Amino acid sequence: MSKLIISGRKRLLGDVTVQGAKNSALPILAAAVICGGESVIYNCPRLSDTEAMLQTLRYLGCKTRRSSGTVLIQNDGLSRSDVPDTLMRKTRGSVVLLGAVLAAEGKAKICLPGGCDIGIRPIDIHIKALRKLGAVIKERRGCLDCRAPHGLKGCEIALPFPSVGATEDIMLAACTASGETVITNAAREPEICDLADFLNRCGAKIQGAGESTIVIDGVSRLSGRDHAIIPDRIVAATLISCAAVTGGEITLKGVIRSHLSSVIPVFEDAGCTFALSGNELKVTAPERLRSMKLVRTMPYPGFPTDAQAPVLAAASVADGTTVFIENIFENRYRHAAELARMGADIRAEGKFAIVEGVPGLYGAAVEATDLRGAAALVAAGLCAEGKTEISGVKYLERGYEDFEQVLTSLGADIVKL
Ligand code: EPZ
Repeated sequence: MSKLIISGRKRLLGDVTVQGAKNSALPILAAAVICGGESVIYNCPRLSDTEAMLQTLRYLGCKTRRSSGTVLIQNDGLSRSDVPDTLMRKTRGSVVLLGAVLAAEGKAKICLPGGCDIGIRPIDIHIKALRKLGAVIKERRGCLDCRAPHGLKGCEIALPFPSVGATEDIMLAACTASGETVITNAAREPEICDLADFLNRCGAKIQGAGESTIVIDGVSRLSGRDHAIIPDRIVAATLISCAAVTGGEITLKGVIRSHLSSVIPVFEDAGCTFALSGNELKVTAPERLRSMKLVRTMPYPGFPTDAQAPVLAAASVADGTTVFIENIFENRYRHAAELARMGADIRAEGKFAIVEGVPGLYGAAVEATDLRGAAALVAAGLCAEGKTEISGVKYLERGYEDFEQVLTSLGADIVKL
């Protein structure tokens, strides 16, 4: 089991290009099973989650090839419509294969998806929506046997919560359904727009992505095209946090500033300054951060739940008290106990966490238990006095491409053993 060893208190300085978005790449790779012929996906991050999705596409009968950040998928028709438990458990993002394979084959057999243990993460909204589109879904022993005996038929679907995955699942299932599908209370994340852009390029007719109402006119078939994945706004937020806790100054290249519109003000409240030039965002951190006062996670365009953990690490060494309210997942403060081993003063209970900033953290042996919690421990290690040893690096590798190399290029003292 690999570990990260960080010797803290090195200022981060320099430029870094932000990787492609994991949560955009996963549904777009899944969408390729509906698109006949060749799809070429640029800026696709090399992560354990994306490689798991590519392994699943190969299992289903696609041919895939990767050359650096470019992934080529050749889909001449799927050879099967079932996804085994072992592959489904590798990532939560696999859940959208339900809608994709159902659209491609008229049937799909998948087991419940994996993903970070940050809550129960049911898929009831997905199932209810697909049933409304005409799917017959039988749930047995953690697996779903889905069929569309009369094909999928467009309809109006009102989501009880703007679920990202459910919105994506419905888009994938509906783009070749007969008739019009209207999704109300749809998720508005940038990754939804990126998926819609790819599908429309492939011949789909999707309007309103990024808004709360998405209208999809079913078409008969989709053909693979090329597409470049948007930059990862959560990796960008994590890098800002790493610079913030080290009093650093870094320039993020290739970012889309509007995707960070709810994150930047939080760091400005903490005393960071930002300068945008084209698609390059320079962040300069103060010697000591001020507290962020209140951070409340919300569906996009609100503050992203995925940035909560790395920002909470920064709040741990800010001057003053910061209150976090985690409104999206019910078990997303597991990093708090590990940060406390490094001297952080955090009281987490239910959806609330109260962080009293301390003068500094000290290095310790800590364990990551989920992707963004791992990122929080890295940020804490970068500013801690002495050495921090982080186990559970596999979680970090789900979403951060070559992160220790990225941080080393910015002046961090970090090695993977
Ligand atoms: C996606 O997860 C992301 N994952 C998550 O990123 C992200 O935190 C989340 O959206 C919210 O932005 C991927 O895109 C692969 P949801 P998803 O459906 O689709 C509840 C990361 O760190 N819910 O919007 O699973 C659910 O339990 C990961 O990169 C139901 O109750 O999120 C949660 O409380 C973590 N029933 C809330 O809705 C359902 O059928 C939001 O979930 C579906 C969801």
